[in-house]
Amino acid sequence: MSTMNDTMLATIEADAGLKAALQQSRIDVIGIIRDSGMKGRGGAGFPTGVKWNLAAGVHSDKKYVVCNADEGEPGTFKDRVIMSDWPDLVFEGMTIAAYAIGADEGIVYLRGEYTYLVKQLEECLQKRRDNGLLGHSIQGKEGFNFDIHIHMGSGAYVCGEETALIESLEGQRGEPRNRPPFPVNTGFKGRPTIVNNVETFAWASAILSKGADWFKSFGTDKSTGLKLFSVSGDVARPGVYEFPMGITISELLNQVGGEGAKAVQIGGASGHCVPASQFGRTIAYEDIATGGSIIVFGPERDMLDVVENFLEFFQDESCGQCTPCRIGNTKLLDGVRMLKRGECSMKYLRELVKLGQTMQIAAKCGLGQSSPNAFLSIVENFQNEIMGRIPASA
Ligand SMILES: Cc1cc2nc3c(=O)[nH]c(=O)nc-3n(C[C@H](O)[C@H](O)[C@H](O)COP(=O)(O)O)c2cc1C
Ligand code: SF4
Repeated sequence: MSTMNDTMLATIEADAGLKAALQQSRIDVIGIIRDSGMKGRGGAGFPTGVKWNLAAGVHSDKKYVVCNADEGEPGTFKDRVIMSDWPDLVFEGMTIAAYAIGADEGIVYLRGEYTYLVKQLEECLQKRRDNGLLGHSIQGKEGFNFDIHIHMGSGAYVCGEETALIESLEGQRGEPRNRPPFPVNTGFKGRPTIVNNVETFAWASAILSKGADWFKSFGTDKSTGLKLFSVSGDVARPGVYEFPMGITISELLNQVGGEGAKAVQIGGASGHCVPASQFGRTIAYEDIATGGSIIVFGPERDMLDVVENFLEFFQDESCGQCTPCRIGNTKLLDGVRMLKRGECSMKYLRELVKLGQTMQIAAKCGLGQSSPNAFLSIVENFQNEIMGRIPASA
């Protein structure tokens, strides 16, 4: 596992961003985040400045800042590293967001399996209260009151989806809501709420500290900045890495000791499986987007084992609210098992592809919309492995 000491994030001076933010108006703080071009680091890639601006524009006696630390995507572990190595940067970013949108309460929705981090995080929060970085009139700023508490998740992947997360926070079953309304208007307890990823808050602190131009000096025009990646699978050096957005897959593989890979799954189980012939493509919102999970497959891997494993996960994790996802994942999983047994005809494989495409447009939330991605990309890109399994008579 690589260490994170040689990253840019490690060089950010603690609370310099918050101090800089409090010297400026709320609108200017949002302007800096918007100018940086940062898109949310949780996967969906929504521009952070736009989200904050929408929440800031809503009049309400109460607003919330929620940090999405559910980190349930298979192959993702960078938020755990950020929270254990730099919790201050995350809490600082939440405080900057609270100032920007006019919130007085922050909640960290922490993955159930990360209970061991709670003591360290609580100590960090208390230290911040003692140092006037949380609580009343933060850093002497009259009227700016904000505090943060931690809420434990209970292990459902779908609770990482922001509206299911809010349902769960409210004590209901973690099921996604219909959108609109969006959380920036009607979120936790019906109040304007921004939900951002752990890494997004950490970079927000860095941007306020070092400036929007500094952030934009990394990455591409459409995908600015640096990004943390969780790298696992068939590589010599798995771990968490910081790379500029726009890095090619082959450059990344060289850095992590993954030369010789036959495929890379970008974006976790719900992402896309990219074959070696496309390793020149870039990891960026304009090409292949990701929340940061990179799973590398060596030449010995059977891609049908890979997709079976992912679909078992989605079948378990579907909340069951809508038919395309509840039934679709089960049908895809059955189909992959038929393929493995040599019992799937070409005609049925085409039906499965149509089913996957239907799920992408008809499922209610991102889970069911993205769960067929791996299946569809493996059928498209690994035809030699698939076709060899179709019976000649079928
Ligand atoms: C099934 C599902 C699981 C998700 N899990 C997470 C998660 O663990 N962490 C996260 O930050 N975003 C997750 N998201 C994305 C969130 O809905 C939301 O887009 C994100 O928290 C917004 O933060 P950002 O704009 O800073 O990326 C998930 C989405 C879906 C559909
Ligand atoms: S897509 Fe799946 S997880 Fe999302 S609402 Fe439908 S059943 Fe639930």
